[in-house]
Amino acid sequence: MSNLKLISILKKYGKVKAIDNLNLEVQDGELVTLLGPSGCGKTTTLRTISGFLAPDSGDIYINDRRITDIPPERRGIGLVFQNYALWPHMTVFQNLAFGLQMRKLPKDEIKRRVKQRLETVRLEEYENRYPRELSGGQQQRVALARALVLEPDILLLDEPLSNLDALLREKMRFEIARIHKESGVTTVYVTHDQTEAMVISDRIIILNKGRIMQQGKPEDIYENPANKFVASFMGNTSFINGTVVGFNGKYTLVKTGDGLTIYGIGRKVKKGENVVIAVRPENVQFVLPPDIRGGMKSNNLFSMEIERETYIGEVVDYQLRIKSWSIRAKSAVSNKMTKGETVKIYLDPDKMPILSE
Ligand SMILES: Nc1ncnc2c1ncn2[C@@H]1O[C@H](COP(=O)(O)OP(=O)(O)OP(=O)(O)O)[C@@H](O)[C@H]1O
Ligand SMILES: [Mg+2]
Repeated sequence: MSNLKLISILKKYGKVKAIDNLNLEVQDGELVTLLGPSGCGKTTTLRTISGFLAPDSGDIYINDRRITDIPPERRGIGLVFQNYALWPHMTVFQNLAFGLQMRKLPKDEIKRRVKQRLETVRLEEYENRYPRELSGGQQQRVALARALVLEPDILLLDEPLSNLDALLREKMRFEIARIHKESGVTTVYVTHDQTEAMVISDRIIILNKGRIMQQGKPEDIYENPANKFVASFMGNTSFINGTVVGFNGKYTLVKTGDGLTIYGIGRKVKKGENVVIAVRPENVQFVLPPDIRGGMKSNNLFSMEIERETYIGEVVDYQLRIKSWSIRAKSAVSNKMTKGETVKIYLDPDKMPILSE
């Protein structure tokens, strides 16, 4: 049983607040991902948890024990860095065994635990290889196994897949999710890749400038982004700028500078407020005759011009325009439309979050 708690952590570099009053709780067995753009404070947060960096103020607890002043090696934390940092002169077996030897475990026990962990990452056959004889993905798995073999209370992973090619990255996401489920170790994972975060996380925390913008289950954050920053980070979101002009029961009506109006879901917005509407490609419906659509009949229907069409394999990606609005959309290859064509689209108001600017 291991839980982690950060209370009001502040870390400044000169005037820059790399971590700005961060409060975070990670439950036993949970995998929480810190997701945010470069420089938002992800690595600084991990280094603070691991003890390689002291916060200016605030406290860190593991299992309700205050560890803020305890040195890194006594925190029971396993770390995997972006560049794996395997020992090049040691075989895979030796890389895993080293930490256990330092702890003076009996030889048999070391062998048993190393073998067990190599099995977890599916590298049983590779124990006598040197890191240079392994692919990037295999090295990555060795780094993970080396952290796990010490049975840490908390596992910290800093962009562990960023050096891998696209195909391997995708495969490794599922591997990490599986290994996490099997080991059940409380994990803080860092990435700036939203798909990676969606695949592996129990909970995602969106960071910007050292502060939490939103946290929740992947699908909740994706479907109900709290603000423009979060919406821009999750999905290929296009934004339409406008002003709230009224409410109609469930929906909020927004008017844009060029006189167009659109209904959407505005949770916290007020009349007269400047807002953005977050439009995701999967929520742009091409209206093909016969006109089949639910919800409001004549609203949120627009005739838009295809400005760009790009064939990307499984779908066609479009840029559509009407007056000042420019949005992304996609359709099946079999319905391919061409540049310059005018198409009718429907934007389901239930899927149009209206957010403060
Ligand atoms: N040693 C340092 N001295 C001064 N500023 C630093 C130092 N380390 C980090 N920073 C600053 O603190 C902020 C957070 O950096 P951090 O490395 O935590 O970002 P990150 O979210 O991990 O970014 P990336 O995705 O690029 O790895 C940045 O503005 C960075 O420039
Ligand atoms: Mg970083």
